[in-house]
Amino acid sequence: MTLLPSDRALVPFVSVQHMMGLVHEIGIEKMLLDLATEIEGDFRRWESFDKTPRVASHSPVGVIELMPTSDGQMYGFKYVNGHPKNTREGLQTVTAFGLLADVETGYPKLLTEMTLLTALRTAATSAMAARHLAPEQSRCMAMIGNGAQAEFQCLAFKAVCGIDTVRLYDIDPVATRKAARNLQDSGLTVITCKSSQEAIEGAQIITTCTADKQYATILTDNMIGSGVHINAIGGDCPGKTELHRDILMRSDIFVEYPPQTRVEGEIQQLDPDHPTTELWQVITGQKPGRRDGRQITLFDSVGFAIEDFSALRYIHRAIQGTDLYVELDLLADPDDPRDLFGMLGRARP
Ligand SMILES: NC(=O)c1ccc[n+]([C@@H]2O[C@H](COP(=O)([O-])OP(=O)(O)OC[C@H]3O[C@@H](n4cnc5c(N)ncnc54)[C@H](O)[C@@H]3O)[C@@H](O)[C@H]2O)c1
Repeated sequence: MTLLPSDRALVPFVSVQHMMGLVHEIGIEKMLLDLATEIEGDFRRWESFDKTPRVASHSPVGVIELMPTSDGQMYGFKYVNGHPKNTREGLQTVTAFGLLADVETGYPKLLTEMTLLTALRTAATSAMAARHLAPEQSRCMAMIGNGAQAEFQCLAFKAVCGIDTVRLYDIDPVATRKAARNLQDSGLTVITCKSSQEAIEGAQIITTCTADKQYATILTDNMIGSGVHINAIGGDCPGKTELHRDILMRSDIFVEYPPQTRVEGEIQQLDPDHPTTELWQVITGQKPGRRDGRQITLFDSVGFAIEDFSALRYIHRAIQGTDLYVELDLLADPDDPRDLFGMLGRARP
């Protein structure tokens, strides 16, 4: 009788500490670029994935969600929450972890933290979408909402889209000061602003990434001129939006997975048959993205399971040959597969 688990019992686990190590080892801008490429590759083969709107459990203060998908070879899911009130209690608004499994055996291949990975994949997805939708030669981005996601967004747009200036605004100036401090050696020109209106002056790209569990109006119609790209991140739950409806009426709207976005995105404010374009169809060339310099494009981002799947597969590859993970004794592995009960004997005192 042995107490040691066999190799078949072990699943690589990437802790928060390891994920931080990986970000530094790869370099954050390279990692954001890699993730944008990885996610774009999976959007190109969109039709090969199982797709379902995420399974959400709402409470008066937040939401807990499961986000599964599979390409027939691998299966992945993420557990993620959204609790805007959490920061007042010293907790994150969004935390996450995820799992990648082999479809052939059903055995997990990776368990990993995904709080950092969600910020990285969300930023990479935003920037990848903007590469197809934003005006050419975009150099300046307004970043409205300077919380946990903000710096990741700014760096992804620098790495993937080549922006060189960010204009920061948050209703809480402490958050803006934090973001400005974190970005001071990033190579970006960082301008702190006193209002959303001031932040969007001269910006070709406007990112909204605020957290409030209600219909909020971060941008009103009169603030938005022609020829901009709006990257709307924060409106991602029923009853939680950021843009005035009139902006939506003037925009060409691009979404991830319509059955999910209709319920969770900015477009929950519109008629169910209001036209939208699926981002994967722009990426595969089936539908146009930006057509001209005057058009307002809107990426109504809510976050979709395929983005997490891409990120999980990327991390699974990236940790090979490193010491940036530990092996978890996660799967029971009896000597005789049918003698699960007998395996209890291994731990008999
Ligand atoms: N689309 C996606 O894939 C995706 C992924 C991750 C997070 N999110 C969403 O993005 C939002 C931000 O996430 P976070 O982790 O950065 O949250 P956070 O709580 O850390 O930061 C949110 C910031 O928004 C600010 N804010 C609130 N109302 C504002 C207003 N009216 N004007 C300006 N600033 C305002 C807050 O002061 C805070 O600093 C959340 O709603 C989250 O659910 C979306």
